Amino acid sequence: MADALPTIGAPPDAVYVAAPGYAADLEAEIVARGERLLARHADLFFVQGSPGPAAWAQNTWLRPEALAVTSIGEAARALRARQRNWHLHALVQHRRAQLVVDKLPPIRFRPLSFPTDPPVAPLGAWTLLDRDHLLLSTECSSPFPDGQVPFVEDRVQPPNRAYLKLWEALTLARGRPGPGTRCLDLGAAPGGWSWVCASLGAEVVSIDRAALAPQVLATGRVAHRCGDAFGLGAEQVGEVQWILSDLAAYPARLLELARYWADARPKANMIFTIKLQGPPDPEAYRAFLAIPGSRVMHLSHNKHELTWFRLKDGGPSEAACG
Ligand SMILES: C[S@@+](CC[C@H](N)C(=O)[O-])C[C@H]1O[C@@H](n2cnc3c(N)ncnc32)[C@H](O)[C@@H]1O
Repeated sequence: MADALPTIGAPPDAVYVAAPGYAADLEAEIVARGERLLARHADLFFVQGSPGPAAWAQNTWLRPEALAVTSIGEAARALRARQRNWHLHALVQHRRAQLVVDKLPPIRFRPLSFPTDPPVAPLGAWTLLDRDHLLLSTECSSPFPDGQVPFVEDRVQPPNRAYLKLWEALTLARGRPGPGTRCLDLGAAPGGWSWVCASLGAEVVSIDRAALAPQVLATGRVAHRCGDAFGLGAEQVGEVQWILSDLAAYPARLLELARYWADARPKANMIFTIKLQGPPDPEAYRAFLAIPGSRVMHLSHNKHELTWFRLKDGGPSEAACG
């Protein structure tokens, strides 16, 4: 595929911003979804036939428009005329693009203090294709710049940094466990996810072959079982409103586990990490999308893994759906 920018007059119907480091996974996904890749430039993929956000896109530009602009002022006016908030995804003409930014209303991106909801103000994205051509999108899948969700981190209480994945997943879910709810945490050790649920006031049943960190047990809200998560039956757990898994497991095995719990607890919200290995394999996670109500996306705190959601309210609009 040529590393060329698309010609003006034929704007793509979506632009994907690849999750950093996972452009090859995104490219394989585009092929598997039957989309036409018009061009790629750095981490931006210009496509036709997009059915919506892609799982390996950290952000999807949903309404790209290409404009000819003769000056910096004209570019800034074109952006301001459409909406207030814009994020520059610079590809080329960095200095010129920065001069356009200087003419836009200021915008501050602050790290989130969890728990909180994502911003509701639309955030557009734009880039200069060359000196005189602007590509913009007023509508993007993510309300965060390039889909990156930064948090004010807690460096004291959680036993590891895995809690950031669940903070991001729950932020995008626009819902979370709380007092009066029970969570099941599969593959929980050392306990970052269980700590998140307990710190929100929920009760947690966790299972792992390994032990949990003392500070997680000290919350008094986590009942830990040492054992094989694949051997745990719903009747041993009782009613749960949230089922979480960050298990280290092959995708095919995890899919069986997801199907089992989705059937056993049809009303529960489910969030599972799908850990991927080796070369891109879109089928490994597309099978999860066949579970009714599913969505899949790469969180900005995911590494070579995707997050599968099956939520009562439909799930994050940022995510790919079946
Ligand atoms: C990435 S870690 C989970 C981290 C955890 N979410 C946290 O926040 O601390 C993956 C865990 O899966 C557990 N695991 C792998 N296979 C398992 C199995 N069959 N049954 C129970 N736990 C398993 C491992 O022991 C490991 O603790």
